[in-house]
Amino acid sequence: MTVSVDQFKNYDGHAQRERPPEDPELTHVGISTPCGEYLRQFWHGIALSEELTDLPLEIRIMGEDLVLFRTSDGEIGLVHRHCAHRGASLKFGRVESDGIRCCYHGWKWGVNGALLDAGAEPKDSPLYGKVRQGAYPAIEYKGIIFAYMGPGDSVPEFPVYDTFEIPDTEMVPYTCTFPCNWLQVTENGIDPVHSMFLHTLVNGPQFFDTWGVLGDVDYFEGDISIYCTIARRVEDNIWMRVQENILPNITQSGAVHTADGKSIRYFGRNTFFRWCVPVDDTHTKVVAWANFGPRTDPIEGSSPENIEILEQGDVFDRPADELQRGPGDYEAMVGQGPIVVHAKENRATSDKGVSLFRRRLREDVRAMGQGRRPVQPTAFGAAPVPTWSGDTVLEIPAKGDIEDRQLRAQTFDQAIKIFSDAQALRADERDTFITERLKALEAAGGEAIHATT
Ligand code: FES
Ligand SMILES: [Fe+2]
Repeated sequence: MTVSVDQFKNYDGHAQRERPPEDPELTHVGISTPCGEYLRQFWHGIALSEELTDLPLEIRIMGEDLVLFRTSDGEIGLVHRHCAHRGASLKFGRVESDGIRCCYHGWKWGVNGALLDAGAEPKDSPLYGKVRQGAYPAIEYKGIIFAYMGPGDSVPEFPVYDTFEIPDTEMVPYTCTFPCNWLQVTENGIDPVHSMFLHTLVNGPQFFDTWGVLGDVDYFEGDISIYCTIARRVEDNIWMRVQENILPNITQSGAVHTADGKSIRYFGRNTFFRWCVPVDDTHTKVVAWANFGPRTDPIEGSSPENIEILEQGDVFDRPADELQRGPGDYEAMVGQGPIVVHAKENRATSDKGVSLFRRRLREDVRAMGQGRRPVQPTAFGAAPVPTWSGDTVLEIPAKGDIEDRQLRAQTFDQAIKIFSDAQALRADERDTFITERLKALEAAGGEAIHATT
């Protein structure tokens, strides 16, 4: 056989072997790193209530080795793993009514790190009031344990978002861990193009074939969120989907098992609300609620036991060949490697959301470095923090006298204006306002409507 080597001259594996360093400013999360200190300014979901038994739970968050426990009085403690006396692991501690007692010499620490009992030391020892165990504020809410790991003198309000309080919605906590950097798990939420290809066109429909319709995708930036909007024509309907990444590491998106664009829906809400929390630089713990109810997916669509299906688009523990034939989010994200090297990417126009998210993140990280703390979610009076993610499907048939892409765009512009006008209303008033205005928009065939309230 004669092989013509001319055909190989453009093969450039050798030229591309070099691996530039990763982007530490956005991917490294340890103590005193720029991004790590930025992330520590926020409350994060770190564990499920059901993970906490009567025993202390070893946990690692942002590279810090910690122990989480619930006292018999019901208070949550999150403390440095190694005892401040001589370093024994509090994993082996005994949880009592008001704190955790170290197994080694019996020192007891309160949930706030106060030394409550110094074992063999005299009761008037100066150690009391002087030595403390490192501790972080932690609370329990709707089946999830949240922690704040920033400076103790500037703890932000715990943010309650509107999607935590939707009537008739069952919120099912779940968690899963990805062996890769937090940023690539978070970026998946602002990358709608993967839904079209990974979840539909390349691997066959994992949800609905209408997910493969290449919709009109756009992005914009709010005070605390990057929004991604996707408009699709499905028969006589215009399907408008908003995905939202709340800085720094929350993703929420619309329905999954009922989102095909064929059923009319006014301000449908999200199927999951998830924190992508760094365990360390190369592992990420997702802590989330899956939501079931009339505004999102029915519980029958994916039972709580199958939440990873809903979350991942695939099933864990599948045979290796099956994973290769039908990869889902897990395979895509983990397959990128432990930490994606940004300098090796060739980002394109369809990666605008990822670029926008990184740009905003970098600005916020750098601002922190200059002493400016990041913007925190703001509630409006007694109303929860408003978010926008979810699906709206309006029956607005294509028109002969206007190009359909333009019709979709102007309809979505109107919908966004409605969301924006409703921003400061209380949750129930807001839902009514938005629903009525969306119905008016539908009745007007996507034409501009005027405020009625
Ligand atoms: S090491 Fe914990 S009490 Fe001594
Ligand atoms: Fe996905």
